[in-house]
Amino acid sequence: MKTPVDLLIINAGQVATCASQDGPKRGPALRDPGLIDHGAVACKDGLIVDVGPTDALAARYQADETVDANGRAVIPGLVDPHTHVVYAGDRVGEFELRIQGASYMEIMAAGGGIVSTMKATRAASVEELVASALPRLDAMLALGTTTAEIKSGYGLETGAELRMLQAAAELDARHPMDIVPTFLGAHAVPPEYAGRTDDYANLVVEEMIPAAAAWYEGSDFAARGVPLFNDVFCEQNAFDVAQSRRVLEAGLARGLPVKAHVDEFTPLGGLSLAVELGAVSADHLDATTPEEGARLAASGTVGVVLPAVNFNLGSAHFADARSLIDAGAALALATDINPGSAPCPSMPLVMAMACRYQKLLPAEALNAATINAAHALALGDRIGSIEAGKQADLLILDAADYRHLAYEFGGNLVRTVIKRGRIVRRNGKI
Ligand code: NIG
Ligand code: FE
Repeated sequence: MKTPVDLLIINAGQVATCASQDGPKRGPALRDPGLIDHGAVACKDGLIVDVGPTDALAARYQADETVDANGRAVIPGLVDPHTHVVYAGDRVGEFELRIQGASYMEIMAAGGGIVSTMKATRAASVEELVASALPRLDAMLALGTTTAEIKSGYGLETGAELRMLQAAAELDARHPMDIVPTFLGAHAVPPEYAGRTDDYANLVVEEMIPAAAAWYEGSDFAARGVPLFNDVFCEQNAFDVAQSRRVLEAGLARGLPVKAHVDEFTPLGGLSLAVELGAVSADHLDATTPEEGARLAASGTVGVVLPAVNFNLGSAHFADARSLIDAGAALALATDINPGSAPCPSMPLVMAMACRYQKLLPAEALNAATINAAHALALGDRIGSIEAGKQADLLILDAADYRHLAYEFGGNLVRTVIKRGRIVRRNGKI
């Protein structure tokens, strides 16, 4: 008697499981994609029940639907652990200014940048925010992202920040992708607080974080054990280390785990702060010193690098992910999709850049975009690898070898997307 399952994928040329016994992958484990040749995956009730050789699984299971991968590679759904995908308006004008020589920080200091997106976002309703984000999530899903973090941070006042969080919740309910919310009230200082950063940090600590925590308690995220993170942009012209500490500690006091934007342009010491506070992830790391990199490597904090930002800003300098990995850090990749520093929905393109500019091997890029990215969201026990008991989030590639996902670029090798055991894109189509 065969065991009944909902979905059986057979004849994968290889299944790259990205399996990890405990915690995110580091060192030699990061170079291991966990390959099973001629593999198969069985799914039931939205979960993976078995993964192994096709012969064994075909003998063991009777499926409602069987998908023949015909020699193609099967990998875990990609996880994008750092996005600002909810926003209104765009910043295509700044793109032109940067081409003509203005820097990201100059544009921000002159009142453009994050603040210009803030103005459009404050004027948008939740429904408008959701409507503009949905096609971006569609593009991400088509490129293989099955779980994405979404930050607030373009409201910069309590009501607008809560509308952004509510938009993330509605996207989670309406789109096949799973969403993980992050509160980022300390993303920038709004114009009405210009020159009064401490006062704005007080507002974040005293009013916004309690409001965000209360919103979260009543949300579906809390009901399902999906965390609400608390994040800060620790940078010159944004928040210094002392202000960042206050913001992050206020979140911890309300049960919100820590994420932090650190060392994007200036090494202020934000990475050491993040590590000290037990951050789930510390992101950017472009200007990280070797001393602070060693602290990250010795910690449980996942380092997230965002090469689409450097590429988009026309920079030849990238975070030294190779040295961080060699020092023993748990490294993950993300798009940072946002209207200013990275209008990029594609995790495969990010993987392609990480291989070329940061010298990751394709296996390291794959683990960094799956299991380690899941750990950067504190969801490494649920998603990010193809292992029995995990959510059935799977991709079938238009290639027999997973390495093609980073080797080729500019197209889309994601053929079929399976989310919680359901085929949401089949053979490149909805
Ligand atoms: O991660 N660095 C700060 N925040 C974003 C940029 C947001 C924006 O420019 O709108 C980032 O790069
Ligand atoms: Fe960011």
